[in-house]
Amino acid sequence: MLFKSPRGTKDILPQESSKWQTIESKARKIFSLFGFEEIRTPLIEDAKLFARSLGDFTDIVQKQMFLIKRETDTFVLRPEATASIVRAYVEHDLYNISNVCKFYYMGPMFRAERPQKGRLRQFHHFGAEAIGSANPFLDAELIYLATRIIFELGLSDFEVVVNTLGCQSDKKKMSVNLKEKLMPHKKSLCEDCVSRIDKNVFRVLDCKNPQCKDIIMSLSWAQAHICEDCHKHFESVLAALDTLGVRYKIDPLLVRGLDYYTRTVFEISSKELGAQDALGAGGRYDNLVEELGGPSRGSIGFALGVERLLLALSAKTEEASKTLLDCYIIPLGEAALKKSLSVLNDLRMSGVPSDLDYLDGSLKARLRRADKKNAKFCLIIGDNELAKCTGILKNMSQSTQEEVLLAELVNKIKAKV
Ligand code: HAM
Repeated sequence: MLFKSPRGTKDILPQESSKWQTIESKARKIFSLFGFEEIRTPLIEDAKLFARSLGDFTDIVQKQMFLIKRETDTFVLRPEATASIVRAYVEHDLYNISNVCKFYYMGPMFRAERPQKGRLRQFHHFGAEAIGSANPFLDAELIYLATRIIFELGLSDFEVVVNTLGCQSDKKKMSVNLKEKLMPHKKSLCEDCVSRIDKNVFRVLDCKNPQCKDIIMSLSWAQAHICEDCHKHFESVLAALDTLGVRYKIDPLLVRGLDYYTRTVFEISSKELGAQDALGAGGRYDNLVEELGGPSRGSIGFALGVERLLLALSAKTEEASKTLLDCYIIPLGEAALKKSLSVLNDLRMSGVPSDLDYLDGSLKARLRRADKKNAKFCLIIGDNELAKCTGILKNMSQSTQEEVLLAELVNKIKAKV
């Protein structure tokens, strides 16, 4: 029987993993530049954590959780990391630190969705969470940070959409108001939206069904339910975004799928992606710390989808995906192989990325293998060279070669690369 990776999951093979390393290290640098520190939380959490944080009636909790039952406990493979990070923040009393805690994270998330281009069951986030302040400038800083990462990775054609949901009490008013407006249209809404009216009415606003969309547009949904304070907060966020030079669009229909959001929400999309066009998204969750047993702390964060970043970048990062060896050793015969092991070790210990050709074949075939490895130099050692403690050093791009003393090899290569 031939096994395959589970549907909606992907092996990241060596020719791809260097792209991952490149973008991970760029993202890490930018997170650090903005004062964010890495946090790593478990891949499994208590399933109740997500029901409590994201909301019982969200799509993730209703349909997409990978549950693991062990005796009396039910765990879940984390579908996102915001709830885990707030759980860790409360569990370790990090609120005693008299500052905004700025965390970043990178890692896999799991959602049992119907797989398609840009939508996987195991995917990865680059995320940031700033916990401890309701200051609107922090919202702008986080949105700016998300756009900086995207930009520094090499993408410039993306759109930032922002909205405010208002505070909890605004959201309650909005929910009542929206339900009233939707009731007369109930018969024309899709099946999902009919059940959303009772369970998670905001999700009707971002339904992709064309008929539902038409109904939503006809409601001319306005922001009348937003209180004065939340209005001012949003105005300040927008002013700070202007100061930072972030271009954005305001969309009152942007609601996001998770219950923990209040006030600012945002989404960043790219036309390169097709139907699943969100590169990343985030927003404020000012009540979540308290909801999970901590004190009241304003918080905001975002997550970027790494697979989607890579999809949008695919053409541009091809070059960076190549593995580069400085030296590939081709030993001709058993005695040369033995010597090659110590030469290889010297090269590696001196910081020269190197490898050895273990397979037999003609010299031509072995040089072809070196080429496939993108080696800059090849060192060929045969019996003649072995007797003189030398090797033939071949420059693979210039097709030139010279005989070098093995004792001088490291310095020779270092001087040339
Ligand atoms: P989210 O919108 O669910 O937000 O996910 C963020 C990003 O992850 C999406 O914009 C998308 O790029 C990517 N993504 C989501 N689902 C999939 C999937 N099935 N396959 C591939 N990529 C996917 C959150 O998870 C929030 N925790 C963000 C946040 C952080 N809000 C506040 N802090």
